[in-house]
Amino acid sequence: MTFAPFITLPFAHERAAPPFSSDADKYPDSVVRYFLDRYTKKGDRVFDPFMGLGTTAFVAEDMGRIPYGFEHDRERFEWVAGQLEHWTHIHNDDAANMRKYALPKMDFAITSPPYMPKHHKWNPLYGGDPAKAGYDKYLSRMAYIFKALAQTMKRNSFVVVHADNLYHGPHYTPLVRDLGLAAEKSMALKAETTIKWENPQADYTHTHCLIFKNTQK
Ligand SMILES: C[S@@+](CC[C@H](N)C(=O)[O-])C[C@H]1O[C@@H](n2cnc3c(N)ncnc32)[C@H](O)[C@@H]1O
Repeated sequence: MTFAPFITLPFAHERAAPPFSSDADKYPDSVVRYFLDRYTKKGDRVFDPFMGLGTTAFVAEDMGRIPYGFEHDRERFEWVAGQLEHWTHIHNDDAANMRKYALPKMDFAITSPPYMPKHHKWNPLYGGDPAKAGYDKYLSRMAYIFKALAQTMKRNSFVVVHADNLYHGPHYTPLVRDLGLAAEKSMALKAETTIKWENPQADYTHTHCLIFKNTQK
């Protein structure tokens, strides 16, 4: 299996965001289409532990793949579930609980996790619970979720993690590296695809996808 180091894709959202949200943390459908087209086939199970507004699931269904996933936020979950044919495959729960569900083994995963800047205390994985504040707790929870993810996947399947480095004034967060290290505790990093946007968005010109192979037995 080979992965291109550098590609160009359009930055666009095929489905309008609901009134209670925005496109801000959706990834473009083109990213999901690109990977599903090359690395999955019709009927494959495609998993996303952080479904958000459902880009992975909607594109998967559109391409004849079978979506599965988790989304912690009730409003987002209900909005996605209400429009998905396979709505019984998605769960309104913390992705950290995925092993409590009787899920079939997945063929492929692609996800854009919640991002956390290093200098923030608010940990998005716990909805800001003060007892779980801080970047270190965020990264160790991501490592825990990646481990659960590896156990949910078929052996030798691929997991694509979309990530950006974060530039906030004087603060820089090397999130691509840090999420990579967190996932590498349970999966093998095989490649990185840098995506240049055909139509750059203000200061958002490119993004990164890390590709892991699940080598767990
Ligand atoms: C960056 S968004 C994903 C966007 C998605 N790829 C899309 O295109 O709509 C991350 C999502 O993870 C959800 N989330 C945060 N913590 C979570 C957790 N512990 N378990 C499951 N979902 C969580 C957030 O509510 C948010 O919707």
